[in-house]
Amino acid sequence: MADPTEALIFDHGPIKVSGEFVLKDGQGRAFDLSGRDAVALCRCGHSGNKPFCDGSHKVQGFQSVTEAR
Ligand code: FES
Repeated sequence: MADPTEALIFDHGPIKVSGEFVLKDGQGRAFDLSGRDAVALCRCGHSGNKPFCDGSHKVQGFQSVTEAR
């Protein structure tokens, strides 16, 4: 049985999605994830490889702590 899908919001960083999932663009086309079962999605807006995080949040000093509620 596959791992359940999980989305983890990192403090001052990306959202890591892992488990069994399909990532689609705005037209409903699936990204080729080449078998990866985890990706980090940019939420700072500075990645040069959107929707994926490329580490730019560190250079840009992105600050965001999101607490569950
Ligand atoms: S969250 Fe990492 S580059 Fe945007």
